[in-house]
Amino acid sequence: MKKIAILCSGGDVSGMNAALKRFVEYTLDKGMKPYFVENGYEGLIDGHIHEAGYNDVAGIISIGGTKIRTSRSERFKEERYRKKALENLRSQGISGLVILGGDGSFKGMQKLTDESDDIGCIGIPSTIDNDIAGTEYCLGVDTALNGIRVAIDAIRDTASSFGRAFVIEVMGRECGYLALVSALTSGAEMCLIPEIPYDLQAYKEDFIREKSEGRSYFIAVVSEAMKHTEKIAGWFEKEIGIESRMTVLGHIQRGGIPTVHDRLMAFNFVTAAVDALIGGDRSAVVCYDNGIFVCKGIEEVAFKAYHIDEGLLRLGREFGFK
Ligand code: ADP
Ligand code: F6P
Repeated sequence: MKKIAILCSGGDVSGMNAALKRFVEYTLDKGMKPYFVENGYEGLIDGHIHEAGYNDVAGIISIGGTKIRTSRSERFKEERYRKKALENLRSQGISGLVILGGDGSFKGMQKLTDESDDIGCIGIPSTIDNDIAGTEYCLGVDTALNGIRVAIDAIRDTASSFGRAFVIEVMGRECGYLALVSALTSGAEMCLIPEIPYDLQAYKEDFIREKSEGRSYFIAVVSEAMKHTEKIAGWFEKEIGIESRMTVLGHIQRGGIPTVHDRLMAFNFVTAAVDALIGGDRSAVVCYDNGIFVCKGIEEVAFKAYHIDEGLLRLGREFGFK
């Protein structure tokens, strides 16, 4: 009987547990044996691999994070440890591996498939940053965006009550996607992301005028990539003449109950990944492209730069982000 395994690598996202549940159930439905690799590539190297069953995934669908844990592994970057990882899979008779992770994890995955001819690997883009080329969606993004929305809505309550400017820093690594979508959907007055060069003088002219017309508070969403959160809070006090506070949302953006969208996306990503392994695909990433799930070569995904959709950037500019 064909045996296939799944692991999580890099930053965790909400929806990984829904993916694990689907993986176990769909694999069993297809008459194969599902296995879990605990603790990402670290666990793969150390042989923490075990057969999984219905009991392992009961009740996890609504829980964020990942039941089988994740890791970042320096050892995996060395060939001798990847060799060990491959031996561990072979020793259990496992011929396929599904990897939930970001582009770093896929680079590691490519080495694994390059260095073997008997084990196939399929990636599922999973990162709140939504910064992977070739796919319009990465698992976990919707839950992160909704978490940020809840936080900004709450901050707006106190900002408007006190008449303050709030500068809110959101994650995204080098990508402004989370910040841009959050700023748009929260009605923020300012959004600073790497993809739109910012113009503080133009903001100042608008904000001074708006203040004179009665605006009493401001919400600014700043991507962590800018590293300017503190500076912007000071700028509001000095240049706009309004008391300011800053909030770094941090890792709360990575957790929380997975949204309906992320649960559905998890099911679909996993179905496509398992089907790819059954179909004999040896090295690919499942991408969500124009409403369908398609497998693409790792080169197209992990080695290309991600660009935020031009329509979304245009909307940002129309909303006054400059
Ligand atoms: P993400 O997958 O979210 O982008 P990382 O960039 O931290 O996260 O990568 C996750 C793991 O993937 C790393 O800790 C490492 O084990 C593995 N990895 C990343 N890049 C490579 C590489 N060039 N060669 C081998 N393994 C890699
Ligand atoms: O890639 C996901 C992410 O949450 C980024 O948004 C953030 O910059 C980074 O991981 C934080 O990493 P760590 O959990 O190692 O602090």
